[in-house]
Amino acid sequence: MGLPALAVSAWIALAASTLGNMVLAVAVVNRLQSRRMRRHTLHLFVPLQYPAMIALPLAILWMASSADRNHPSVPLNVTALWHLLPWPLAGYAAACLVVGLVTPLVGLWRVFGPPPSVQTGFSSQKLCMVQRMGRRPVAPVGKHWLTRLPGNEVLSLEITEKRFRLPGLPVALNGISVLHISDLHFTGTLDRGYYEQVVDLCNDLKPELVAFTGDLLDRLQLLDWLPETLGRLNAPCGRFFVLGNHDWDIGPTEPTRLALENLGWVDLAGRVQTVDVRGQPVTLCGTEVPWMGSLPDLPPVAADADPSLRVLLSHSPDCIGWAKKQDIGLMLAGHVHGGQIRLPLFGPVYSPSAYGGHYACGAFWEAPTLLHVSRGVAGDVPLRWNCMPEITRIVLEA
Ligand SMILES: [Fe+2]
Repeated sequence: MGLPALAVSAWIALAASTLGNMVLAVAVVNRLQSRRMRRHTLHLFVPLQYPAMIALPLAILWMASSADRNHPSVPLNVTALWHLLPWPLAGYAAACLVVGLVTPLVGLWRVFGPPPSVQTGFSSQKLCMVQRMGRRPVAPVGKHWLTRLPGNEVLSLEITEKRFRLPGLPVALNGISVLHISDLHFTGTLDRGYYEQVVDLCNDLKPELVAFTGDLLDRLQLLDWLPETLGRLNAPCGRFFVLGNHDWDIGPTEPTRLALENLGWVDLAGRVQTVDVRGQPVTLCGTEVPWMGSLPDLPPVAADADPSLRVLLSHSPDCIGWAKKQDIGLMLAGHVHGGQIRLPLFGPVYSPSAYGGHYACGAFWEAPTLLHVSRGVAGDVPLRWNCMPEITRIVLEA
């Protein structure tokens, strides 16, 4: 049975519905990956997306081909094609058609939309780490061959400085700088020297505070890289961390927490800690939900209290709703890696969040909270297209 005769409009509608169907399949995968689910369980479900992606167009084409038609020489237009389908399939195809037509517009907005209204400055420097180090910092471990694919940006690093005017920030904290680093993913593919270079670059930024938002390890054996990497990162007001789903997935997290604490890092998982910055108290808190622990128990802000700054470290950006209710001024998150592969004019495809690609990376102002989602430094799969690894110096202005 060959392809049915379809009018051009019917082919376009079929293509848009197919795109919409793929978007919905990816949306389900993104939501599944945002849940508390072990990787081996996820690997049972994730491959089902591929047959699901092609099931709709195949079903429509098959029904159009096998339909009894009075005038087989006249190509089917959209209406005729629509009437051939049983109503549940017609309804689903119509929903997919709408999704398929709207999705490119959403993608364009994500790629070309304006920065948040509170952003006052942005500068960036892009480095080729191979050039900087004079060698390829890749070991023959895991999927190391992916690093040689054309256009793979995994061996580049973007160093950004983003400035924001944060309403309510105490004047004493004007210009406070926070280094946001996330998703180091020690897998062994990028070698220790690579991370040592990243830490040197972080130290050059001279932040007052450092925040690491999780996914340190994919192999527990690589804990001994810590003294020469995160152990050398300096900040006068402290270094703070939460862990991520990959740290949770490889086994008990206590050895990782202990190793970081022994190097002077402060574990904020489910905790609240006040630090002194320029004589001003800054409230820091953290969470690793949904994978570990709970949300921190923050006291409500008293109406007559002096203005202060609350900072939340969360591995996932999905806590943004909670952060807003808690008067968090700055929320830092990782986990989604910017999607790792970003299509031109479309943005990220896979983004393991309850909000899909919405918070894949970048800054979002949702009063009273400024959310910054890092693209991270690495990933368990060493592949990035149009989505360079990053470290970010965030500067807040009163
Ligand atoms: Fe990650």
